[in-house]
Amino acid sequence: MPNSTLEVHPISGALGAEIRGVDLRNLDNAHFAAIHDAFLKYLVIFFRDQDLSPEQHKTLSRRFGALYVHPYLAPIDGHPEVVRIVKQPDDTLNFGGSWHADLTYLEKPMLGAILHAREVPTVGGDTMFANMYLAYETLSAGMRYLLDGLIAVHTARNTGYYKREKVRSMGVLESAKTTYDTDAGTMFEHPVVRTHPETGRKALFVNALLTVGLKDMTEDESRPILDFLFHHLARPEFTCRFRWDTGAVAIWDNRCVQHFALNDYPGQRRVMQRTIIAGDRPY
Ligand code: SIN
Repeated sequence: MPNSTLEVHPISGALGAEIRGVDLRNLDNAHFAAIHDAFLKYLVIFFRDQDLSPEQHKTLSRRFGALYVHPYLAPIDGHPEVVRIVKQPDDTLNFGGSWHADLTYLEKPMLGAILHAREVPTVGGDTMFANMYLAYETLSAGMRYLLDGLIAVHTARNTGYYKREKVRSMGVLESAKTTYDTDAGTMFEHPVVRTHPETGRKALFVNALLTVGLKDMTEDESRPILDFLFHHLARPEFTCRFRWDTGAVAIWDNRCVQHFALNDYPGQRRVMQRTIIAGDRPY
């Protein structure tokens, strides 16, 4: 596939653009600069008809930043930075099947992820994405004022990621099975509203999977605020939905995007190859 004229086609009014005319295995600096601009502008970008080996997937990822080794998923052989997200026909649960940003319980949650479809169901298995700038900007001035001063507590405790049944068809590191039974190493506090280090825009930074409370507030006080925010941030007009086919690639900005992998393809197999790009501490 030639890297000639790169075309950017937005897929919704909220976020997301499909980029055409690019072979992600061979990106010159000009094309990468255009892709990076689109990444910051559309927050999640999509490509079709790609074929990235794990090594090529890592090379592409390094254009965005340093690779990060996933803390609990077992990597594929010979590539510590590459994992496979697998759902087999007889699995009932899927990975990432609720609104979330990734790894927000770490001191430095990831900058973003690159997901590459290797095998997709005939129908179903789409991924949804939501724009957290919009989620913040559409709040009332009073609510924004309140949230701007708040700190949220994030933990992996409730995810059940360490449990075999949650990710039955994906390898889980032995070390994670004990770590993830407790809060040890899996809990961190971040501002409820973070400022994107590259765009300077403010984004809502709490998610229903990993955010469990607000600092210096009781559970009774923080729960209604968080429940309101979790409901608000998933409003359909803040989202886009991507229909995968084999070879498609999504690159999203975890600093201002949440995502949701739909679990609507019982009896079918879905296999995705993923890298994560190291992030910095939210402020
Ligand atoms: C995830 O990263 O949470 C899963 C995304 C997907 O499989 O579509």
